[in-house]
Formats: sequence, structure tokens, C-alpha cells
Amino acid sequence: MTAPEPPEASPDTASGGPLEAPADYPLRFEGAAVVLGGRTIWSGVNLDVRAGEFVAVLGPNGVGKSTLVKAALGVVPLSAGRVEVLGGEPGAAGRAIGYLPQRRSFDGGLRIRGIDVVRLGLDGDRWGVPLPGASKFFSRRRHDDERLDEVIELVGARSYCERPIGQVSGGEQQRLLIAQALVRRPKLLLLDEPLDSLDLPNQSSVAALISRICREEGVTVVMVAHDVNPILTYLDGVVYVAKGGAVSGRPTEVITSTTLSRLYDTPIEVLTTSDGRLVVVGQPEAPAHHSDRHTGLPR
Ligand SMILES: Nc1ncnc2c1ncn2[C@@H]1O[C@H](COP(=O)(O)OP(=O)(O)O)[C@@H](O)[C@H]1O
Ligand SMILES: [Mg+2]
Repeated sequence: MTAPEPPEASPDTASGGPLEAPADYPLRFEGAAVVLGGRTIWSGVNLDVRAGEFVAVLGPNGVGKSTLVKAALGVVPLSAGRVEVLGGEPGAAGRAIGYLPQRRSFDGGLRIRGIDVVRLGLDGDRWGVPLPGASKFFSRRRHDDERLDEVIELVGARSYCERPIGQVSGGEQQRLLIAQALVRRPKLLLLDEPLDSLDLPNQSSVAALISRICREEGVTVVMVAHDVNPILTYLDGVVYVAKGGAVSGRPTEVITSTTLSRLYDTPIEVLTTSDGRLVVVGQPEAPAHHSDRHTGLPR
């Protein structure tokens, strides 16, 4: 790998040493590489995500952030190294993973209600499966309905979940899709650019929501983002994908002017605000969209 040696994620003696059970690390990459269309997208990627952490995958367009998520899902094979997901092979964890793919938008004319989009997260793999007994079916129905209600409340979608999804704002659609990914109580949530295409206030509130989900639901979150600033205060770890490799660690270790300038090949300054927050200045390709463009509402 051409990127600098990845700093080891800082050892956290409080939660044990190398003898920790694999389940303590829902996601691990070890010397991982992916080749697509004959080209190495990245190689030498090492990453340890601990249970309950909120970790961001950052980097310019086209460097392989989505590919990293797909490798964790087991839909893109590795050409070298290992990926371990929830203690097993990628692709084996199924229901224990919630996944939100990179931007999908809904046609303004789409009539399906928000709540039914969320329900798809429950029903997706159940269609066509013979039901063993009606009573079991009804108790599962009730259980599912309770969970549906819970996630709608969690993402704050109560007031608009009955409306057609094509007619709510981009931020509201995104909250409904996050609820869909969460409804089966995944242990690991993989979100591919959930803030993309949202305006700044929505980026902040969706980022805060994801952080709250991570803490309250005890789910490990790995989230791809283009711009680190809206999420920086919430993060336990970051992975910067650049130059065919990746650098991972605690935000304060990785998000430094020196490291980012080297990764992006351009001067980047990391400033500390008076209240101690980090702000990244000069990152190329900051999100161009500052409008909530997927509203689907008539203009
Ligand atoms: N199936 C594929 N075959 C060949 N190249 C691909 C394929 N899928 C993605 N790529 C390339 O891999 C690179 C990384 O893509 P991606 O992971 O989507 O980047 P990012 O999410 O960081 O924008 C891009 O250059 C893209 O064109
Ligand atoms: Mg992508």
C-alpha cells in the first residue's frame, strides 16, 4: 500500500487486550485488498472496529469507500487479506447487519407510505416463507408492530410516516431509510453516505440521530461520509481511504493537518475551535449539494 503506515487503533486496556472475543470487534480488516476490473482499488487495509463504536469511512470520490462497505457485506471479494464480520465470514451475518446503500432517491409520484418502506426492513426475507402456525404468526406480527413503532419514534418520523415516501423531504426519507435498516435490531449498521444530498441543518440532525442510535440501540455504526465536519464530534474512530490504502485510528490521531494533507496531496488545515472541536478546512471535494434536493415536492 502506498498510503502511510496505518497507526494502530489505540490500545484500550480498559476493555481488555489481545484475548478479546471476536464479537468485541464486529468488523475487522487485516491486510485486505480489492481488485476490480484488473485495478487494485486499495490494499493493505487494516481496521478494527469495536462493539458499540461509531466509525466513519472518509476520503475523496472514487477511492473505494463503498467498496470497503461492500467487502464487509461480502458482495465484493478480497484479492488478499481477511475481513471478519461479527466473528465470521463476510456475508454470513445476514440479519445481524443493517445496510443503507449509497443514494437512492424516491420518485415524487411514489405512493408507498413511509411506514411501509420501514416495514420492508422486517419483511424483506419473509415473503413466500410458509408460516408454521397462525398463533405464532400473530405474536410475531405484534412483536414486529411494536418494533416498527419503536424505530419510527426513534428516528422522529411519527408525523410523516403515513405520507407517501415520494412526497416527504430528503432528510425525512433518509430518516425512514435509517429506520428500515434498524428495524431488525442489527448488531452492525453500515451506512453509505447517509448525509449525501442533505442540506447542512439536515446533515447535522441526521448525524446526531445516527450517534444517538449508536448509543441507545448499542449498535456498531460504520458510516461512509464525504465531509467529516458534521460528524466529527460524535466519532470514536475514522478510516481515511486514499491513494490505494487506508489509515485508521482515533479521530485525534488521524485528523491532523499533516496526515490529511499527505492523504489528499493538498494543504489541509485542522483547527481546534474555542470549545475544543476539530474543524477540517480545505478538504477538496467538500459536498457540493447544499440543497435538500430529493424533496419530490412540486416546486
Ligand atoms: N464493478 C466494478 N468494476 C470495476 N471498477 C469498479 C467497480 N465498482 C467500482 N469500481 C471502481 O472502483 C473505484 C472505487 O469505487 P467506490 O468504492 O464506489 O468509490 P467511493 O465510494 O469512494 O466513491 C472507482 O474508481 C470505481 O469506478
Ligand atoms: Mg461511494
